[in-house]
Amino acid sequence: MEIKDNQYQIQGVSLTQLAKDYGTPLYVYDGDKILGQIKKLQEAFSTVKLRIKYATKALSNINILKLVKKAGTGVDAVSIEEVKLCMYAGFEPQEIMYTPNSVSFDEIQEAVNLGVMINIDNIPMLEHFGTYYGNKVPVCIRLNPHILAGGNAKISVGHIDSKFGISILQLKHVHKVVDAYGLNVIGLHVHTGSDILDAEVFLKGAEILFDAAKEFKGLKFLDFGGGFKVAYKVGDISTNIKDVGNKVSKAFKEFCKEYGSELEIWFEPGKFLVSEAGYLLVKVNIVKSTPASTFVGVDSGLNHLIRPMMYDAYHDVVNISKLDGPERVYTIVGYICETDTIAADRKLREVQEGDIIAIKNAGAYGFSMSSNYNSRLRPAEILILNGKPNLIRERETFDDILRHQVQIEI
Ligand code: LLP
Repeated sequence: MEIKDNQYQIQGVSLTQLAKDYGTPLYVYDGDKILGQIKKLQEAFSTVKLRIKYATKALSNINILKLVKKAGTGVDAVSIEEVKLCMYAGFEPQEIMYTPNSVSFDEIQEAVNLGVMINIDNIPMLEHFGTYYGNKVPVCIRLNPHILAGGNAKISVGHIDSKFGISILQLKHVHKVVDAYGLNVIGLHVHTGSDILDAEVFLKGAEILFDAAKEFKGLKFLDFGGGFKVAYKVGDISTNIKDVGNKVSKAFKEFCKEYGSELEIWFEPGKFLVSEAGYLLVKVNIVKSTPASTFVGVDSGLNHLIRPMMYDAYHDVVNISKLDGPERVYTIVGYICETDTIAADRKLREVQEGDIIAIKNAGAYGFSMSSNYNSRLRPAEILILNGKPNLIRERETFDDILRHQVQIEI
């Protein structure tokens, strides 16, 4: 988002005009930004065989999936529905990694039948897999490296108390199962968490993965998961992807030499690819002063962007209807019957009813975590590509609230 010709724009498209044309609340995505992030990652790992498996769950509109596919990525899917969505968007089964947790074996079988790579997250499932498929279907194993990392407790998933993956302390047991069934393990996977800044965390994950990998024959790839941090505030820093690329690639090449085969290196970024590309545009319904604060009530809330409430996530907010004039301190709140504070005590250009507020970093886990809570409608989505806005999801209507409800005689 930049100021040009006296308005906030993306690729020359005025954001206040978009709000007028398509209404609010409105999710807007900058396609160029997404492509730029993919390129950055590809460049950072240009000396190794990189495969990007975009974390579908971050933003799963089929047009976004098509866009990342065109730029050369595969996908990581975490439910059978995401697998089907990715296939619908045009991904070949072999481009899809299926990383479920706590699912039934039926769902794993369905995914195998579709031809996607399965990432097994627990020992009982590894045994089911062995019993049923033996060495016939190649498989990946998700290890829990016991690294505590990530922006907050809810998104740190590689520690010892986490439900995800098979503990590296259980590797002996894993090998017993692998040997007993002759499993064809072609990949190992770790994902330590989200919002990880330090190259050191990825290196530590790499070390653990390399140690484990030495004991497996016939591996084709190592998957480091996602988790690169993006900047949420002015002055905030993101993961230095060049630095991570250099350090991890170097270690990876050394490992491959030792292992005797040039493996692929996989990453599953979500936030890094789509977070900064997304804006949630909301309209000011009311400006309400109390003895304590001045609240700005907008036509959205935790039903459309749950991150501030669920993770205490910081999202920068800008009054895009005002380019100059005095600034005041406001607390931006939603219209949901809960304390859905979107942004507390922020300096904005003087806010009036009808102004449009842009909530930044809304691309990842924004729309994809939205709901109909309070029987509210989900927003429309716009993708700006080649300087043109495209409607990629219609705003919901009241019919969507009634859809699937069955009326009985009361
Ligand atoms: N791979 C696996 C196995 C994952 O579990 C995740 C995220 C990713 C990749 C992508 O992580 P990313 O690059 O986006 O950090 N809703 C939370 C984040 C939850 C992430 C869950 N897993 C948030 O809004 O902060």
